[in-house]
Amino acid sequence: MTRNSEESHFLHYNMKSIAPTVDKGEGIYLYDTNGKRYIDGSSGPLVCNIGHGVKEIGEAYAAQAEKVAYVFRSHFTSEPVENLATLISKMAPDGLDKVFFVSSGSEGTEMAAKIAHQYYLELGQERKELVISRWLSYHGITMGALSMSGHLARRKNFVSSLLPYPKIYAPNCYHCPENSEYPACNISCAHRLKETIQLVGADYISAFIAEPIVGAAGGALTPPPEYYKIIREICDEFDILFIADEVMTGFGRTGTNFAMEHWDVTPDMIVFAKGASAGYYPIGGVIISEKIYKVLRDGKKGIFAPGHTFSGTPMAGAVGVKVIEYMDQHDLVGNVKQLSTYLMDQLKTLYKHPIVGDVRGKGFLLGIEFVKDRETREPFNYKESGKVAGLIAKKAFEKGLILYPGGGTVDGHLGDHILVAPPFVIKKEEIDEMISILDQAIGEVAKDL
Ligand SMILES: Cc1ncc(COP(=O)(O)O)c(C=O)c1O
Repeated sequence: MTRNSEESHFLHYNMKSIAPTVDKGEGIYLYDTNGKRYIDGSSGPLVCNIGHGVKEIGEAYAAQAEKVAYVFRSHFTSEPVENLATLISKMAPDGLDKVFFVSSGSEGTEMAAKIAHQYYLELGQERKELVISRWLSYHGITMGALSMSGHLARRKNFVSSLLPYPKIYAPNCYHCPENSEYPACNISCAHRLKETIQLVGADYISAFIAEPIVGAAGGALTPPPEYYKIIREICDEFDILFIADEVMTGFGRTGTNFAMEHWDVTPDMIVFAKGASAGYYPIGGVIISEKIYKVLRDGKKGIFAPGHTFSGTPMAGAVGVKVIEYMDQHDLVGNVKQLSTYLMDQLKTLYKHPIVGDVRGKGFLLGIEFVKDRETREPFNYKESGKVAGLIAKKAFEKGLILYPGGGTVDGHLGDHILVAPPFVIKKEEIDEMISILDQAIGEVAKDL
């Protein structure tokens, strides 16, 4: 069934052309009400890690709803939410043991900023409130989270309402912001953090936040191996907390529980959402270090004040636990590890199209950047950034493959990329099917260009 936007009471993303109506999902596939089948090649916006239509999750959901769905966190705790926090703390690096729950990634990153500020308030350093982040980043759409985000297209309508958080350039080896090349660059993009801290004043800065691999804003930009060690050292030198925004990268997406493991660096806080529930319930949260926990606990009241009505409900706990159990039982992170090289190799075959400039990422968080000229890495220069990526995603969608396109990949203004990030349950032959559609979509769009 195709809906008409004027008749529908739902305010649609695209009011001029309404998306098809979904009927059901099964594994990596979604079906619309016309019976058309789509491969979910990006797990929605990198959410549906365990695939669609998993019966066990539905059963856990129904059982908990019948027992008790909701309690307010100042009135009760519950077994499901305690169990979920325990499981997450086991997945997290040593020393990150306490979990605060929210319902989305934006709430999570904003909560992490508030926790950082409360930490320094308790230590009597009231002015340490600013969060440094990076251009080419996305940390969420609520005003606090958007203030941290360097995603120009998503910021531009709200700039005067945003908090004045300082930003440094993100590591972007394909279009180096320092006009240099790895490793001769000496990772100067990481050292810029020190410069910014010194310019702003460490007395005013509570935290530095970064996505380990830049997702929506960078098309799986992956920093060099030394990057986060340098960042960690600078944060320690100036007594600034390091927040890893693992909303996209967490819960196995890159082949490890959390992506910071690839750099062997432990942050002070990890923010998670998306894959934590794999889409079966809105769950997000912040995992905090023992160091932060002790300061909050021993603070003036021992109360962590900020929260949301839907923080840490029994329903969230029951669904979250079942999702993690399901991932373990089916060794889904193992599947990501096992098939990620195959997926990457298959994506690299698409270099046969001259507009494929760079293929990058880790695990099942892979990106393709499209360029006008591969030699010079010159991006397409349409007024609308992301237009080429959008056309490719549209063409793929028509052919039954869902991708996550984006723009501004070069400098926030220019650039085109797509994220390829299938559910962890994908099989080799399904990867082949996905690549074949992507190949056709890129070929047809390139021809039209
Ligand atoms: C890294 C990262 N942080 C935060 C968010 C915001 O999450 P949400 O859309 O659940 O608020 C996103 C969403 O794409 C994200 O990719």
